[in-house]
Amino acid sequence: MQTIVITGGAGFIGSNFVLHILAKHPEYRVLNLDKLTYAGNLDNLQAIADNPRHTFVRGDIANPELVDHLMKGVDLVVNFAAESHVDRSIMGAQEFMQANALGAYTLLDAARRHQIKRFLQVSTDEVYGSLAPGEAPWTEVSPLAPRNPYSVSKTAGDLMARSFFVTYGMPVLITRASNNIGPCQYPEKRVPLFVTNAIDNLPLPVYGKGTAVRDHLFVSDHCEALDLVLHQGQPGEVYNVGADNDADGEELTKQILDLLGKPHSLIEYVKDRPGHDLRYALDCSKLRALGWQPRCDLKTALAQTVDWYRANEPWWRKIKESWEFRAYYEKQYKKR
Ligand code: NAD
Ligand code: DAU
Repeated sequence: MQTIVITGGAGFIGSNFVLHILAKHPEYRVLNLDKLTYAGNLDNLQAIADNPRHTFVRGDIANPELVDHLMKGVDLVVNFAAESHVDRSIMGAQEFMQANALGAYTLLDAARRHQIKRFLQVSTDEVYGSLAPGEAPWTEVSPLAPRNPYSVSKTAGDLMARSFFVTYGMPVLITRASNNIGPCQYPEKRVPLFVTNAIDNLPLPVYGKGTAVRDHLFVSDHCEALDLVLHQGQPGEVYNVGADNDADGEELTKQILDLLGKPHSLIEYVKDRPGHDLRYALDCSKLRALGWQPRCDLKTALAQTVDWYRANEPWWRKIKESWEFRAYYEKQYKKR
């Protein structure tokens, strides 16, 4: 039995990945390290509550003693743990630097001392900055030019991971993925926020004119890509992960409303995000050459996401009715 440390495994992508690994790899025991911030949710792990191959540890990846202790006898590390929401980083980025930069360093440092076999740093396409319409998609060698506090903190983690390969020869891999959608995404992010607002006939706050373009990667496609890179990627290499499921804000919002049979009049154009990145697009030929391709096109990914939120109302109502969410929503949207 091998041991894999998965950090941030109570969050959106991390919990989907924990479930994926336990289902696909009977040879692994998962050590799930998560601080349980507002975004961490043990409800996401209910299906594996009794699984003897899963151990949950509440803790901070930036805590050197804890991380050093946990790393003994570990084979693989996948680091998802992060503060992940751009809008919150615009309100203040202290925790983003702490988790995404210092936390990544602390984990890498312990992994190096314990001679971990492979370390996968889950990075983001936001490290590349913003593309103008018509510009070619980013490849893994495109310059890094992050433009908001979240993406700068993620770039620090990404480059620190690379430095551990270059400097110490540590077997590090880095993935840079586009916008994920799917089950268990905290409803501060656009798609789950809009789906759940629409179900409740509340306005859908589209930033600016809704012209910013994003690629929408279904989370299970991302998990398969991460699994492949972890096991078959070349140490020291970076892999873009995207699905070519592009849509701008207006188009995407209308598709969500149509899927739910709700009127387009629920759209409310609000003040734009400061420094809003206009467009992200990835060239993923390097990953595709490893044998990966996404299973879900935009229509399927959105429909499956909408279905999940419709079928799991108690999951998201508990969050949206919480004091934490209400306070955030008021601060972020009330005077917009
Ligand atoms: P999320 O916010 O849903 O989950 C983050 C998890 O990390 C939470 O469970 C939280 O409790 C935990 N966490 C935060 N700080 C921690 C710390 N210091 N120590 C331990 N645990 C901590 O985020 P997500 O959307 O699932 O993203 C996961 C990772 O994937 C992040 O690194 C993010 O940058 C990256 N990523 C996300 C997307 C996306 O579209 N969501 C795309 C590309 C990359
Ligand atoms: O591209 C990868 C990134 O995708 C990840 O690294 C981040 O962790 C993840 O949060 C996501 O970042 P975005 O900023 O792209 O996601 P978000 O859902 O916040 O916004 C998606 C788009 O929708 C963006 O153009 C802003 C817009 N938006 C967002 C919200 C929350 C709105 O128009 N209204 C909203 O209320």
